[in-house]
Amino acid sequence: MKFSTRAERIEPFYVMEVAKAAQQMAREVAATAEPMIFLNIGEPDFTAPPLVQEAAERAVRAGSTQYTNALGLEPLRERISGWYAQRFGVDVPARRIVVTAGASAALQLACLALIEAGDEVLMPDPSYPCNRHFVSAAEGRAVLIPTTAEERFQLSAAKVEAAWGPKTRGVLLASPSNPTGTSIAPDELRRIHEVVRARGGITLIDEIYLGLSYDEAFGQSALALGEDIISINSFSKYFNMTGWRLGWMVVPEAMVPVVERLAQNLFICASTISQHAALACFEPESIAEYERRRAEFRARRDFFIPALQSLGLDVPVAPDGAFYAWADCTQAAHKLGVQGSWDFAFELMRRAHLAITPGRDFGTADTQRFVRFSTANSMAQLQESVARLRALIG
Ligand SMILES: Cc1ncc(COP(=O)(O)O)c(C=O)c1O
Repeated sequence: MKFSTRAERIEPFYVMEVAKAAQQMAREVAATAEPMIFLNIGEPDFTAPPLVQEAAERAVRAGSTQYTNALGLEPLRERISGWYAQRFGVDVPARRIVVTAGASAALQLACLALIEAGDEVLMPDPSYPCNRHFVSAAEGRAVLIPTTAEERFQLSAAKVEAAWGPKTRGVLLASPSNPTGTSIAPDELRRIHEVVRARGGITLIDEIYLGLSYDEAFGQSALALGEDIISINSFSKYFNMTGWRLGWMVVPEAMVPVVERLAQNLFICASTISQHAALACFEPESIAEYERRRAEFRARRDFFIPALQSLGLDVPVAPDGAFYAWADCTQAAHKLGVQGSWDFAFELMRRAHLAITPGRDFGTADTQRFVRFSTANSMAQLQESVARLRALIG
């Protein structure tokens, strides 16, 4: 069978090989003193809080399950707008908010609406692999720009300016980032946007981890920079609703009808049940629970990062958000007699029953040195992980 070059261009998710091997090993070691601990998971270990679950049940029982408007339920768009005002102090009118099937659908819609075949989009290396694949699925070309720890593993205005060429359409950023958990410094973001704006380009920013921000200096939405920012967000991370497949995007007003047309045709709408349920995310009781969980994520970070550092797994930039640690494993790999993050991840799985993610999927620049640990796991599991790491490489 012949497949499209578009489909063939999408690289496989190499980490799935690691995840599959971890699942296999988990079965083998389940009954031992050291069952597998999964530090490779990129989703919260919490589920939707009670009010959200009840709202979903009510929607099902009431038969509120027909298609919704392609842009999403009006009350939900209003609630999201209210959240921006309360939490981030930015005025985002509901008419600019498009509810989607997760950030993934939002990113697809944005790319399909804005990218012509052959257009180039600048992105940091390392970055979340799917983001470059959304660009290539829209027949654009993701240009990965190697970043440094000094740049917080994010693009800088100087690099965007230097890399800008005749085919460049814009930038696709993520702040806080997966895999590093680091955000773009607000001044740098403003400068990046000025560079992009001056060239008539687009600034797309994936703010899916913004709700899980632990540092006042970084926890602001890029939407404050102007109405021409396109921000992607989701109920997956802060709202703990990964499998509910619900997200949203804030777009300039002129883009709404274009996205609406695409959404009507490609998706009809996001899940109606999830949309009704998500209304309850913004109730004070739910927000209180989400804030308690955010504090828990922060406490895990505060325990885990120093522990990694003390074991020679250097985390060059302290994550200010999300639930990841991007650690240089050069020294630790050497201790285990292997080289590179891919072999280190497998060695750790074999010898300590810890599943982590090697850097490979996230780019090519320095990713053979780095691994991603996810702290979306209980404190007890994180403590046990550190004990095993200490026994192995301490
Ligand atoms: C940076 C980033 N963007 C987008 C997504 C996709 O999220 P969603 O579940 O909202 O489609 C993820 C998921 O891990 C992510 O890490």
